[in-house]
Amino acid sequence: MSNEASLFHHPDRNLALELVRATEAAAIRAVPWIGKGDKNAADGAAVDAMRAFLSTVDFDGVIVIGEGEKDEAPMLFNGERVGSGNGPACDIAVDPIDGTSLTAAGRSHALSVLAVSDRGTMLDASSVFYMDKIVTGPAGHGVVDIRKPIGDNIRALAAALGKDVGDILVAVLDRPRHEQLIADIRAAGAGTRLILDGDVAGGINAARSGSRIDMCVGIGGSPEGITTACAVKALGGFMQGRLAPKDDAERERGIAAGLDVDAVLEIDDMVRGDNTFFVATGVTDGALVAGVKREGDYIVTESVVLRSKSGTLRRIQAEHLASKWLDED
Ligand code: FBP
Repeated sequence: MSNEASLFHHPDRNLALELVRATEAAAIRAVPWIGKGDKNAADGAAVDAMRAFLSTVDFDGVIVIGEGEKDEAPMLFNGERVGSGNGPACDIAVDPIDGTSLTAAGRSHALSVLAVSDRGTMLDASSVFYMDKIVTGPAGHGVVDIRKPIGDNIRALAAALGKDVGDILVAVLDRPRHEQLIADIRAAGAGTRLILDGDVAGGINAARSGSRIDMCVGIGGSPEGITTACAVKALGGFMQGRLAPKDDAERERGIAAGLDVDAVLEIDDMVRGDNTFFVATGVTDGALVAGVKREGDYIVTESVVLRSKSGTLRRIQAEHLASKWLDED
């Protein structure tokens, strides 16, 4: 296939820059709902905006990770086709807001997120809600393993990074189910960064350079796990996951859907190939990106665009003339 022809079959570099318009729009439309206590309204506004922008992008996307099943999620449901239908055939994961409760409460670290890969490469893990995850930067390869006790992983990563264990910072969702994990991290001598919500940002911060977080561990959403894998691939980071069914019924549903619910999922099991894109725009301020803010006549957004083929993380700051967005201000 010629290079020119291949552009029509695989997502190309321009696609990520097109997709960022969808996360920017979702973040901007969520703003009126920040701190208003209604997470469904915030999510609904972001979903509508993301869908409207996606329909203008030249690609043929199938949502693998979406807002749920068709009947409960009228838009951006799993299996829905998005995009103009022209251009590269892709799998897409959408999370119009990762951190809906954070947004409703007016807290930091809420993001609007999208990830894209070649058609047929993203694992549909939606039949099992939770996944146990471990994410580090590139130093974790061949060093860290989800099967090992957390203390061993912390010591091994510290050695690989040339750091004292006491300087290692581990992000974990602050949940009762993580009580023992948190105690074990601290017993090993490392510090915890307890996050209220949003383990996509937690995972990316563990994988990227220039962040204080060295590792992100614990049980969070499976969809968020797959989305995170698309970003971690572009960062050259390390990630493993293991599905964590809540009960026997969910376990059986996972097996019926063709999932190996006991397997350790390597990053290539979560998203195959080397052509992943990840875009995220800050809804509220966070360590990864700043939230949406108003500056005079402009709405300012900050986004990151990651592409695995090139191994790049680009930051995009955009100024949007506020008058163009007035209808929902
Ligand atoms: P939502 O914004 O969709 O509510 O997700 C937030 C989140 O914190 C995810 O980042 C995380 O993977 C998941 O929820 C954890 O689930 P739970 O809140 O049930 O522990």
